[in-house]
Amino acid sequence: MTRLTMTILALAATSVLTDVAQALAQTPAASIEQRQSAMKMSGTSMKAIVPVARGDAAWNPAAVIPALEKLVETATATPAMFPPGSGAESGVKTAALGAVWEKRAEFEAAAKAQGDAARAMLDAARANDEARFKGGFAALGRSCGGCHEPFRAKQ
Ligand code: HEC
Repeated sequence: MTRLTMTILALAATSVLTDVAQALAQTPAASIEQRQSAMKMSGTSMKAIVPVARGDAAWNPAAVIPALEKLVETATATPAMFPPGSGAESGVKTAALGAVWEKRAEFEAAAKAQGDAARAMLDAARANDEARFKGGFAALGRSCGGCHEPFRAKQ
């Protein structure tokens, strides 16, 4: 192994440790703020997707691909944005219900359902397959309410 490779590997290991340390050091307030802004972004992503999926806007994969990528990313990041201790007991205002931690497997499955639905639509958009894209929309729409219903306080 060259000296350069060793340096690169050492730097890579350090940055992984830094990420882990930062995640552990994250306060409940920071997690709550992070997930609320990620969720707002999901609302923005849906605004780009809905008109195209419903046929109110012309078929244009480029208009929906970034939004779908964002939804896949958010779904993957969702469990980590709800660390233990970041519920109402933290004293910070949050709409996340205790069920997020009490029924963790279901919560993670709900996040995965969003990721799978967004991924299927993303693949269809990248393949310029309008019918498949539109066919995937019901599942994506359901995935938001499918998690809010059991895991978010009524607004
Ligand atoms: C795996 C569960 C889950 C999925 C999937 C999910 N959400 Fe959420 N969402 C939540 C929870 C829990 C909250 C409350 C977060 C808090 O207040 O700490 C929330 C909050 C929100 C909010 C309010 C954010 C704010 O300003 O406080 C919006 C908007 C939102 N979600 C949109 C969406 C959209 C759109 C989708 C689908 C593309 C979606 N969510 C999918 C669990 C989910």
